[in-house]
Amino acid sequence: MITHLQDTITLNNGVHMPGFGLGVYKVQNGESVVNSVKTALKHGYRSIDTASFYDNEAGVGQGIKESGIPREEIFITSKVWNDEQGYESTLEAFDASVKKLNTGYLDLYLIHWPVKGKYKDTWRAMEKLYEDGKVRAIGVSNFHVHHLEELMKDSKVKPVIDQVEYHPHLTQLELREFCDKENIQLEAWSPLKRGKLLDDPTLTGIAEEHGKSTAQVILRWDIQNNVITIPKSVTEKRIITNADIFDFTLTEKDMGKINALNINSRVGTNPDSFDLK
Ligand SMILES: NC(=O)c1ccc[n+]([C@@H]2O[C@H](COP(=O)([O-])OP(=O)(O)OC[C@H]3O[C@@H](n4cnc5c(N)ncnc54)[C@H](OP(=O)(O)O)[C@@H]3O)[C@@H](O)[C@H]2O)c1
Repeated sequence: MITHLQDTITLNNGVHMPGFGLGVYKVQNGESVVNSVKTALKHGYRSIDTASFYDNEAGVGQGIKESGIPREEIFITSKVWNDEQGYESTLEAFDASVKKLNTGYLDLYLIHWPVKGKYKDTWRAMEKLYEDGKVRAIGVSNFHVHHLEELMKDSKVKPVIDQVEYHPHLTQLELREFCDKENIQLEAWSPLKRGKLLDDPTLTGIAEEHGKSTAQVILRWDIQNNVITIPKSVTEKRIITNADIFDFTLTEKDMGKINALNINSRVGTNPDSFDLK
C-alpha cells in the first residue's frame, strides 16, 4: 500500500506508477486544464490522466511544461478513443496524442473502451507502440473479465492496468479477483462517483470519526484496497485536500462498512451496453 502521495505501485512490466493522480475529464482545454495540472503538480501530484476524447491534451502538456518539473518525473496517461480504434488508426491516434501533449513519449496508453470487433486489432497496435519504446506501459479501460480473457487469448503483452469505474457503490468484486490473479492493476475512475456519494450517512459518519472529509475517506479506501485513484478537480482546495489522505488509517471495521455499500450502481455506462462506435 502506498504511504505518500508520490509513492508508486509496480506494474506487471516493472514500470512504477504513482498510486494517486489527477483526472482531467471535462476540464476545458486552455487556461482551465493548464491551471489544474500546474496546481496538482505544485502540490505534489506526479500523475495526470487524460485521453484524446477529453480534447485537452495540449493544455495538459502546457501545464506540465509550465510547472517546471522535469518530464521524466511525471507519469502521463492517455487513451485511444473508440472511433480511432483499429491497427493503423491507433498508431496514428497515438502520434496525434503525443504531438498534442508535446511530451516525447507516454508513460501509459489505454484502450478507452472495448469496441467490439476492433479492440484486438487496437491491442496489436498498442503492442507495436510498446515494443518500439514509444510508450512505457500499455493497458485497457472499461474491460470486463470476459473482454480481458478474450484479449489475452492471443496477445503478446499482458495489459498492466484496467481502469474502470470504481467507488463504494461499485466495488467490482469479480474483476478485482480476476485482476489480482492475473497481476493486472486496477485503477478507479469516478472514484467520488462525481460527487454523488458525499452525503452518504455511512461515509459521513466514518469521516466525522476520523476528522476527515467524505471525499478523503473514499480516496483512502481506494488506497487501502491497493486501487490506483485519479480524482478530478479544478478547485485548488479540493486538489490539496483530496491528496491529504496519508495521515489516517481506516480500521477493518470502517473498510467493511464501506465495502458493504456496494449496490453495483454506475454513474457511467456499462461497457456491455455502451454504444461503442
Ligand atoms: N476511462 C474512462 O472511461 C473514464 C471515465 C470517466 C473518468 N475517467 C477518469 O477518471 C477521472 C475522475 O473521474 P470523474 O472526473 O468522472 O469523477 P470524480 O473524480 O469522481 O468526481 C469529480 C467531481 O467531483 C468534484 N470534486 C472533486 N473533489 C471533491 C471534493 N473533495 N469535494 C467535493 N467535490 C469534489 C469535482 O468538482 P470540481 O472539479 O469543480 O472541484 C468534479 O465535479 C476523470 O477526470 C478521468 O481522468 C476515466
